Amino acid sequence: MKRDPGDLRMIPTSPAGRLDGSGNHHYFPRHPRGQYVVIAHAEGVYLYDEEGRQILDGASGAAVACLGHGNRRLIERMKAQAASVAFAHTSTFVTRPLLDLASRIARYTADPAAHVYFVSGGSEATETALKIARTYQVAAGHPDRYAVISRAISYHGATMGALSMTGVLKRRHIYEPLLSQFPRVATCYCYRCPVGRDPDWCKVECADEVERAILAHNPDRIAGFIVEPVIGSSAPGVTAHEDYMARVAAACRRHGVLLIADEVMSGVGRTGRFFAMEHYGVTPDIIAISKGISSGYFPLAAVIVSGHVFDTVRRAGSGEFVHGFTYAGSPIGAAVGLEVLDILEEEQLVARVARLGDLLLDRLQTLRSCAMVGDIRGKGLLVGVEFVADRATRQPFPAPMGVATRVLQACLAEGLAVYPGGGSVNGLSGDHIMIAPPYIITEAQIEELVAKLARAVEKVQAQVDPALAIAAAVEGPAIVEGS
Ligand SMILES: Cc1ncc(COP(=O)(O)O)c(C=O)c1O
Repeated sequence: MKRDPGDLRMIPTSPAGRLDGSGNHHYFPRHPRGQYVVIAHAEGVYLYDEEGRQILDGASGAAVACLGHGNRRLIERMKAQAASVAFAHTSTFVTRPLLDLASRIARYTADPAAHVYFVSGGSEATETALKIARTYQVAAGHPDRYAVISRAISYHGATMGALSMTGVLKRRHIYEPLLSQFPRVATCYCYRCPVGRDPDWCKVECADEVERAILAHNPDRIAGFIVEPVIGSSAPGVTAHEDYMARVAAACRRHGVLLIADEVMSGVGRTGRFFAMEHYGVTPDIIAISKGISSGYFPLAAVIVSGHVFDTVRRAGSGEFVHGFTYAGSPIGAAVGLEVLDILEEEQLVARVARLGDLLLDRLQTLRSCAMVGDIRGKGLLVGVEFVADRATRQPFPAPMGVATRVLQACLAEGLAVYPGGGSVNGLSGDHIMIAPPYIITEAQIEELVAKLARAVEKVQAQVDPALAIAAAVEGPAIVEGS
């Protein structure tokens, strides 16, 4: 039966203004049984639902809306570019905004010969990085090198190549038969040290795992190693030991393995430096960025390659990079990227992120009065709070309790959005939220964010019975829908 589209507006929202999983609408949401707030408009750091309720965007979506919502400069730049040229296929054409944005992004690297390949999102960027690494190795005379080593706690995207590099089991498990089986190493995750070290005795042995994995899997098969310099959704805010990246980078160089930084979330100022890798003084061969570069105003991502990688691909082998997406290289996206960089520089927002990040971490310490708060960590405005059933043993809640989702629901009731996730302990259990507000958040709004979050966490603390949680955990976790 054909429905009047007018019906649809009536159906989706429950009395609480939520799109529900009743199936009485045609939208296929992320989680078919989930509930969704219908957002009508947004301004600054706030989202508004159809009833006008205000929600503080405490995670910028998922570290996307870095410049906040309703930015007039970005809107006008987008309109002007759409009126000038909205699309020109990159098989034959290039547009001025693409050339300009490539030069601007390259200037943020230490490599004057860096080149930039544009795509439309984070998964496309990491997938492209994987194919560039493979293409480079073939061009460099290593036709057997194809595998990319990744870390056990990582998220690199949803497409098959990106998912093959992703470590977190809950994102992969049903797609396992479709994935390439790449080697994985432990993650430098000090709260849950993979080699069981006390921080005072840490010798960063987890870094040595990378070289061991390269040797164990035969260096002649390994094309690259991919790493999130500050971890995003799979263990938000986890920063590696200060020596880790340099040691890993040295191991990669020794064995001709390309170092790929997945800065889809951590890049473009999110951690208080333009690239999060700068915190470690390490220069990767390939960097993937997305999210912040368009701040959510247009689907845009970029893969930055060193001059050496680009030159090898161009001069050696076939000289071809056999790849391409129709919508990649949008001049509108590039114009937005240029405006984002103008705003970042003019308003010195990256320095602001570093300063506000310290303030946010400091204020979040008040959450420690809640027994279920296990760890609070981060760099700049990429911060994570991890919840545990037992603070002394760091035992996680059983996955079916859905603690991170409960925290999100309690936050929404307070008018705050955070980004929940899980799986950081064993791929299935381990609950956390990511806090990654827009760079334009004020100090007063940080206080508002923390006060709302504290009330929400207290509410969830009152709901979860740690004794039951510990007993259930012993029986073993079940797989539940993640964020
Ligand atoms: C580190 C990292 N890499 C890749 C991706 C995939 O990006 P997208 O969701 O835009 O495909 C994400 C998304 O959150 C991410 O955080």
